[in-house]
Amino acid sequence: MKIYSIQNFYSNQQPRKIQHKKQAVTFGSLKLRNDENNFSDTCFYRDIPTLITATKILKEEFPRGTIIMDFAGSNGEEAISLYSLLNDTPGNNYKIYSYDKSETAVKLGQKGIYTIFSTNAGDDFLLTDTKYAKRLNDNKGFIKKLRNCFYEIMEPAKRPDYTINDPVYLYRLMAVPDFEVKYFKLKNRYKNKIKIEEGDINNIENLLPKKKAGAILFRNAFYIETGNYGVNEFNLFEDLSINKKEIIEKIVDKVYDKLLPGGLFILGDIEKDHIYIADNNVKDEDKYFIANYGVEIYKEPILWKALQKDNRFEPVFYKKISAPCAFNEEMKIPTIWRKK
Ligand SMILES: C[S@@+](CC[C@H](N)C(=O)[O-])C[C@H]1O[C@@H](n2cnc3c(N)ncnc32)[C@H](O)[C@@H]1O
Repeated sequence: MKIYSIQNFYSNQQPRKIQHKKQAVTFGSLKLRNDENNFSDTCFYRDIPTLITATKILKEEFPRGTIIMDFAGSNGEEAISLYSLLNDTPGNNYKIYSYDKSETAVKLGQKGIYTIFSTNAGDDFLLTDTKYAKRLNDNKGFIKKLRNCFYEIMEPAKRPDYTINDPVYLYRLMAVPDFEVKYFKLKNRYKNKIKIEEGDINNIENLLPKKKAGAILFRNAFYIETGNYGVNEFNLFEDLSINKKEIIEKIVDKVYDKLLPGGLFILGDIEKDHIYIADNNVKDEDKYFIANYGVEIYKEPILWKALQKDNRFEPVFYKKISAPCAFNEEMKIPTIWRKK
């Protein structure tokens, strides 16, 4: 089993930490509260190590291109980020279908204008001409590479006449010194590379029914699907009747069927996508009590177990995250799995 590390890709150059700002990152370039499915917040290049490693494996495994199905793709920022990293493969034929079950997020993506906030966002490093960016003077190395990828496929756009972000969130950000919003759109020549449509991962078998995918993403959304909000969010209204294990196993089975051999299943890097609060369907002996949060979690990592069942998937990339709820310390999680 080959385990990829980020150094393989960028030779001896480690990606610089993007958290270079004085204020804490409050999140990304889309702040979208919608009525249907909780939040559709997202960010360009969210979890860069995972995206870059996935790109490297895809270029090796499918050098001439493949179909990629990005579920929980929100307004398409994730698909745009991934495509921009694949784009330097000569004569490639990668096409990304960005699906989300939120009509609001998908309609926004189909309109095609994206925002990046000058400060407090995980992707503000993409901006070069805000007052804030000029002070940073970091147009070199890893950040420069990412910017080149982004600006190869994106171009500045005018402020649209519709609302993009949650106004309450924006209002709070406007108090931050030098706060600016910049608008972008995909360049015309790349428009056929990324398609944004409504789609639910539970219905994957009916999407592109005659085709198989080289990669499927479902990042930072397993917790929505399973109602796994609790632990560090102190959600007292967690629905413990939801059988999380069953939901996860069904999705993993379907993803397995839809992937090409060697294809990748790419996961999010937030703790609640990997550690699950025990629901009422779990036996006492299969639970583990977390004293400092006063909750019980599944003793076994149910998502990883589902992936490893019958030796169907192998983890090929691990990422360290801080995992305050389960073990109160750093934890290594596998964010990229390969179909055997
Ligand atoms: C927090 S956003 C994550 C967006 C992006 N993947 C990221 O990591 O930045 C979660 C998104 O998952 C979508 N979602 C939840 N369950 C889904 C499902 N079963 N199929 C497709 N999208 C889903 C929601 O509508 C929401 O837009």
